[in-house]
Amino acid sequence: MSFTVTPTGAALGAFVSDIRLSEIGAAEGRGLIEALGEHGVLFFRGQELSPAEHIAFARSLGEIDTNAFFAPNEDFPEIAEVRTRPENAYVIGEAWHTDHSYETAPALGSILVARRLPSRGGDTAFSSMYAAYEALSDGMKATLGGLRAVHSSYEAFGVGLSKLPESERNERFKDSYPFGPDVVHPVVISHPVSGRAALYVNRSFTTRFDEWTVHESRPLLEFLFEHGASVEFTYRFRWAPGSVAIWDNRCTWHKALNDYRGESRLMHRITLKGCALAA
Ligand code: SIN
Repeated sequence: MSFTVTPTGAALGAFVSDIRLSEIGAAEGRGLIEALGEHGVLFFRGQELSPAEHIAFARSLGEIDTNAFFAPNEDFPEIAEVRTRPENAYVIGEAWHTDHSYETAPALGSILVARRLPSRGGDTAFSSMYAAYEALSDGMKATLGGLRAVHSSYEAFGVGLSKLPESERNERFKDSYPFGPDVVHPVVISHPVSGRAALYVNRSFTTRFDEWTVHESRPLLEFLFEHGASVEFTYRFRWAPGSVAIWDNRCTWHKALNDYRGESRLMHRITLKGCALAA
């Protein structure tokens, strides 16, 4: 394996250099998945990936998990378009979240390629759920270790969407909303690659603890949502033309910054299939 991995020095993230993503083989693909399990998010600069190369690169890392809610690219339906138009007040993914936690086998990760960037802002922030878990007291770790939580796509794409103006909704999502049944995951998972413990709840999709009411769950969930967003666990990535980021959904949260009102931004996202998660 020939690439170089340089950690950001923050709680998560590493820059990967000496690699051309359009040309990687199986050994490099496995190496990137390992590095992802360790660092949570990998950043690449100066990559000129066409949409077809983006898809081929994704396939070298795993199977593609097409997002059911985002508008697909017209020519490449495996690619979800994360688009902001100048008139949009909201941006996709502006609350801290991890992709597809509402699935029984949540997505391994996502590969985001910058296509059109605003002249200012539009960064993506990431937070380490390894670091968030490790910073908790032993008492809280013991409590969370016995809990499972419910994750729902309806919460974000049904209830959440209904709060947006209709013009914003139609911009973003397809006409039908394929809500699956709610799913349950452990609140603390053992990462499938690294084996490390990670906090696995998120503000966008986690609605309550299993066998608890929403009302009972809210204070502890609110604490975890605030705790996970502590700046100590985060890293903020500044996009440039040719930038690519891959994040591991099992040990990170991410959030798109909504700070470029009046400008456009277009990102291409491919999500990779994952597996069922265990404590
Ligand atoms: C996402 O949540 O997948 C989008 C992140 C971004 O646009 O920066």
